[in-house]
Amino acid sequence: MPELPSPRPEGRRAPSTRDSALDPRSRALEEAADLAMKAPSVHNTQPWRIELQPDRLILRADRSRQLRALDPLGRELVLSVGAALLNARVALAARGWAVTVERVPDPGDGDLLAVVRPVEGSPEPGLAELAPAVGRRRTNRRRFTAHELPERLLRMLTSWARDEGATLVPVLSDTHRLLVTRLTQEADQLQNADPEYRAELRQWTTRPYAHGDGVPPEAVPHVTGREKEALPLRDFDSRGSGGLPPRTDPEAGQTLLLLTTAADDPGAWLRAGEAMERLLLELTRKDWVASPVTQAVEVPLTRTRLRSALTWDAHPQILLRIGRAEPTPSSPRRRRSEVVANSRRQPPPPPGAPHETPHPVDAPAGHRPVSDGRGGTTWT
Ligand SMILES: Cc1cc2nc3c(=O)[nH]c(=O)nc-3n(C[C@H](O)[C@H](O)[C@H](O)COP(=O)(O)O)c2cc1C
Repeated sequence: MPELPSPRPEGRRAPSTRDSALDPRSRALEEAADLAMKAPSVHNTQPWRIELQPDRLILRADRSRQLRALDPLGRELVLSVGAALLNARVALAARGWAVTVERVPDPGDGDLLAVVRPVEGSPEPGLAELAPAVGRRRTNRRRFTAHELPERLLRMLTSWARDEGATLVPVLSDTHRLLVTRLTQEADQLQNADPEYRAELRQWTTRPYAHGDGVPPEAVPHVTGREKEALPLRDFDSRGSGGLPPRTDPEAGQTLLLLTTAADDPGAWLRAGEAMERLLLELTRKDWVASPVTQAVEVPLTRTRLRSALTWDAHPQILLRIGRAEPTPSSPRRRRSEVVANSRRQPPPPPGAPHETPHPVDAPAGHRPVSDGRGGTTWT
């Protein structure tokens, strides 16, 4: 296949030195993999495999990371991969590429979720400017302060969700808010009564830091057992060492938004994940914070009741609470080499390995640089 010219050479940022030997398309694909890896995922399982080819990025489900108790169908796994897909699209748009995206293209291969090809043409509108938000976005589980989402922003979020093939249902009336709260309480209780659910939660909240996955204590509220929150956040504090303050109830009405889709199959779940990440990035860009609160969408009984009361014939996929709060620490990510196959990027040198690049030109004449063993340099 002939090499396509770079449509807007190099977009906005200079390529990293590790990518400078690559052609523009490969460079953009490497960056798409970087951003995909930063997507949110259920319990921070990062249930994706990314394969790079010279002309495309392939996203696959990693079923070994599926939460069998919480997510037996793999709906939230696919949703998480959808979020990674949106980030890849953002990265390619930021480099000036248009894309073609095939979603769930092979009926015989349910793990193949998306194939993204950079092509000549105009980048998808509205995505490039979201690139800086990808690294800033966090799931924020703090108490939100009294700020209501302006109606104009709500209208824009609704329109962005529609662009991504989903429908946003704001939970506005007191009756509906109460119902969502009750159903979340009920679902939370049912889940916590299930030993397999609890074991899975414990497994993903006590991972060694080096694994680069799971929900770390720094990012979750400390649970004392005394707090009675109306809308219970999932209790991730399995070690009792949560780093955020215990109270999470908002000072005033936080905004609750339910993302829904017309169908309820892997294609729809993938779109729901793209829509969710699009909204989260748009909100991050405007200094709003958010966290998914998904217990009521996970338990079949409460999901059905949510659907009949709020969304008519559409299928609830994810509930988001939105507000303002102080930032929270980031959650870890897996090593790139474990997730991305066929990368053409030069891997960074292992710690302690000699520098690949020649030493600075200001070396004293006739002397050689030698590491002093503490990250500095002496001259012999
Ligand atoms: C499908 C899905 C469901 C999630 N459900 C919850 C939830 O119920 N409660 C919660 O606090 N976080 C939830 N999260 C957020 C993840 O825990 C979070 O994305 C992950 O720990 C990584 O952290 P980060 O988003 O700060 O990068 C969910 C995320 C996804 C994609």
